[in-house]
Amino acid sequence: MNLNVRKAVEADYDTVARLLESASLPTLGVADHISNFLVVENSNGIVGAIGLEVYDDVGLLRSAVVDASMQNKGVGSLLYENLLRHAKTLGVRRLILLTNTAEKYFEKKGFRRIDQNSVTGPIRQSAEFSGACPSHAACMELILKEDE
Ligand SMILES: CC(C)(COP(=O)(O)OP(=O)(O)OC[C@H]1O[C@@H](n2cnc3c(N)ncnc32)[C@H](O)[C@@H]1OP(=O)(O)O)[C@@H](O)C(=O)NCCC(=O)NCCS
Repeated sequence: MNLNVRKAVEADYDTVARLLESASLPTLGVADHISNFLVVENSNGIVGAIGLEVYDDVGLLRSAVVDASMQNKGVGSLLYENLLRHAKTLGVRRLILLTNTAEKYFEKKGFRRIDQNSVTGPIRQSAEFSGACPSHAACMELILKEDE
């Protein structure tokens, strides 16, 4: 499996949106944050993506998706590890995500469930918190750097 992870560019938007739609994940807000998305490609093109929206030192992890034919081969974890590094270079101290489908997946990555209503600040303006994700979605956090 020859995989290359790279930062997304605007021209990747349609492909990323198609992947998200085929997994029934929201595309709202993706275009605004595409420069903080990563994509993974093989010789056939893009086979997965993961997104980050940055709100001060809080990062919203979103849009983790792998083409159905490529799932459970470590592609999602490869994307996630790269995103984690990217988030740290941007000074993100706390990652938040909302999910209906992958709570257990992110639990294994160290995220813990928190009350969605306990999340405050600019991240509340994101498309996911503004309604693209249902209010019953699981909200999870991972602390990357404790407050000093
Ligand atoms: C969630 C997703 C990105 C994971 O990527 P992946 O490449 O399939 O997963 P990996 O190969 O990195 O990891 C595989 C492991 O995760 C588990 N796993 C995969 N998807 C899972 C899910 N949705 N929930 C819980 N566990 C999951 C597998 O059972 C496997 O477990 P094991 O290592 O104990 O055998 C991918 O399955 C996907 O695109 N799912 C549909 C879209 C989605 O639900 N995205 C989450 C949005 S928040």
